[in-house]
Amino acid sequence: MDKEVAKFTSSIEADQWMFKADVLVDKAHVVMLCEQGIISKDDCSVILKALDVIEKNGVASVNISTHEDVHMAIESKLIELVGEVGGRMHSGKSRNDEVATCIRIAIRDELLELMCELVGLRQTLLSLAGKHTKTIMPGFTHMQHAQPTTFAHHLIAHADAFERDFDRLVDAYVRVNLCPLGAAALASTGFPINRERTAQLLGFDDLIENSMDAVSTRDFVIECMAAFANTMVDLSRIAEEFILWSTPEFDFIELDDRYASTSSIMPQKKNPDVLELVRAKTGSVYGDTMSALAICKALPYSYNIDLQEVTPHLLKAVENTRASVRIITGVVDTMQVKSDVMAAATEVGFITATELADTIVRVAKIPFRTAHRIVGALARSGEKPTVEQIDVVAKKMIGKRLSDMGLTQEIVDEALDIEQNIRVRSIRGGPSPDECERMIKERKKNIASDAKLLKQKADKINVALKQLNAIVRSGAQK
Ligand code: ARG
Repeated sequence: MDKEVAKFTSSIEADQWMFKADVLVDKAHVVMLCEQGIISKDDCSVILKALDVIEKNGVASVNISTHEDVHMAIESKLIELVGEVGGRMHSGKSRNDEVATCIRIAIRDELLELMCELVGLRQTLLSLAGKHTKTIMPGFTHMQHAQPTTFAHHLIAHADAFERDFDRLVDAYVRVNLCPLGAAALASTGFPINRERTAQLLGFDDLIENSMDAVSTRDFVIECMAAFANTMVDLSRIAEEFILWSTPEFDFIELDDRYASTSSIMPQKKNPDVLELVRAKTGSVYGDTMSALAICKALPYSYNIDLQEVTPHLLKAVENTRASVRIITGVVDTMQVKSDVMAAATEVGFITATELADTIVRVAKIPFRTAHRIVGALARSGEKPTVEQIDVVAKKMIGKRLSDMGLTQEIVDEALDIEQNIRVRSIRGGPSPDECERMIKERKKNIASDAKLLKQKADKINVALKQLNAIVRSGAQK
């Protein structure tokens, strides 16, 4: 191959990422070939011993850059170590099923790590929420003061989004952990291989059965990336809030020095660079996701090397997502919360207006829309109204005084009391301290069962791979 062509066709970046997975696939395949009587015990033993050496010496020892890809590099290293017998490893296997298997093994590990990191983020958000069930703050719609809420309520909202992100990754994992090995190039093989056996040795849950489907599809990659993109939406939203909240205009939080940068020229600056980069990396993950979709679009079946171009996007997307989860976790864990400033902000913008309108409905028994109009007219002054001021407006609008219908100054004062506003919002999902405490408790239970689920999945893989390596070691000794 021409040098430039070789560089153009190289898949070196993603290949380094899947080196370990590829050695595992080779080991499982060789063990199975031997069990099926396709290669002799002696040949199997020689090959397995050499694969162990290659694994130990690592990816640098196989010189990917001087070969077409990692699969060829490992095979030619094997042949260099053991001679012609190494050429028996590739019986009944193609790089097409091999690469699909390697990607699935490599990405399932990344998914488990990412899910673990998301559990950590949820835990961190809920711990902080637990300390702030009584910290009042303005809730916003359209970036305007809307209704009072608590910092706990706000943090639980974010934690719930991350819980759904977690659930989407669990769903994606179900379709990732399926084994395409044995599909060979596309039409399987005439060798009497045992596909179930290699799938089991590699810790897969089942097969991608149809051999054409097995080598053609990257839907599992797109599904993962869609889940990453959704996770990044949620990370970017919390990042954006923290950026705003750390400005002097809000001053709700102060970032810890470990998560802030300074300016090279303005000595007073404390910049939220890491949060801005989470925001930016969100764009990069979307771009990678769009690339994967665009590359896979309209590809005729079965394998085309276009698919090779997808893998680096997956790799970059998962790296950026994982890093962003860790950064946001660190920011939440270390930031200083300015509860007094948050509480003081609830005094701005008549954010108890809804409760006043609701109270008028309950006491004076007028329709909500009428009460909305009365309070709306009063809100224009920006001041909290007295019962006399309410009467003046009501008389003008509906010809009646609300004080004649049961409204008293005491009732008005209670409606305008911020803490009371929060206390009465005690229905399911509301911001009242009791309800938030209940929500936190329930979510911590979910976290515990999610952590258990992750451990089960990781254990299954570890048991399978331990078994595989035990077989490899005993096979290699023969
Ligand atoms: N490196 C390739 C990939 O990532 C796998 C090799 C298949 N190459 C081929 N010419 N059939 O998809």
